Amino acid sequence: MIEESYTVRKAEERDEAEIAGLVVEGFLDKFRPIFGRGMDRSVWIMEKWVRLEHSIGGVRSLVVEVSATGELAASVGVRVGESDDNALSGGLWEALERSLGFLRASWAATLLSYPRYAASPREAYVERLVVSPGYRNLGMARTLLDASENLARETGKATVGLHVSGNNVPALRLYESYGYEEISEQRSRLTGYFLGIRSWLYLRKEL
Ligand SMILES: CC(C)(COP(=O)(O)OP(=O)(O)OC[C@H]1O[C@@H](n2cnc3c(N)ncnc32)[C@H](O)[C@@H]1OP(=O)(O)O)[C@@H](O)C(=O)NCCC(=O)NCCS
Repeated sequence: MIEESYTVRKAEERDEAEIAGLVVEGFLDKFRPIFGRGMDRSVWIMEKWVRLEHSIGGVRSLVVEVSATGELAASVGVRVGESDDNALSGGLWEALERSLGFLRASWAATLLSYPRYAASPREAYVERLVVSPGYRNLGMARTLLDASENLARETGKATVGLHVSGNNVPALRLYESYGYEEISEQRSRLTGYFLGIRSWLYLRKEL
């Protein structure tokens, strides 16, 4: 359980850079092979991505703030609104190409396109749930999942969906203990070979 020294709140524009830092830190194993020698640009690219998601992607982020210091300990994105997917992928491509050059950007865009998801208006989609390593096992992920489900209900959604890589045991345990059920599996030799992720599971919970 989260103690009183932490606050769960909706993210604001000023949080975008810090959220990007948390995401890159939490998914280093995935981002290192994607960005390669451009790794020093990864937080900047992710910040652009989070900003685009907030402005045109229908995504709202929730964060856990440490009251004493104001730092963010955890965050999650929840897609509850309509998304302009062409503008979103165009914006991501621009940021990737500007930072990494055409060839590396093509490579990164291909790997980042997994897992594939077809949005549904009746579903809230949870993504990039991450807790900073120093704050794990304190119940923060549970608290953010609760807040995500509340946001889904407030916005009239009937289900919450998400993807998790088949080898992410901590996350799988978390979702299973929260009533999420496996709906489908995407297998990819490409992400299997380069990211060590052979399968992506799509999980769903009825609200
Ligand atoms: C997965 C992650 C979000 C869990 O965050 P957390 O705040 O430590 O999780 P919580 O403390 O809320 O734990 C909730 C439940 O998750 C499961 N869990 C969390 N960490 C675990 C671990 N290392 N091993 C096994 N199960 C674990 C347990 O079921 C736990 O319940 P319990 O405490 O009753 O056993 C965190 O490890 C993380 O940020 N990982 C990197 C990013 C990531 O993989 N995100 C998920 C993307 S789908």
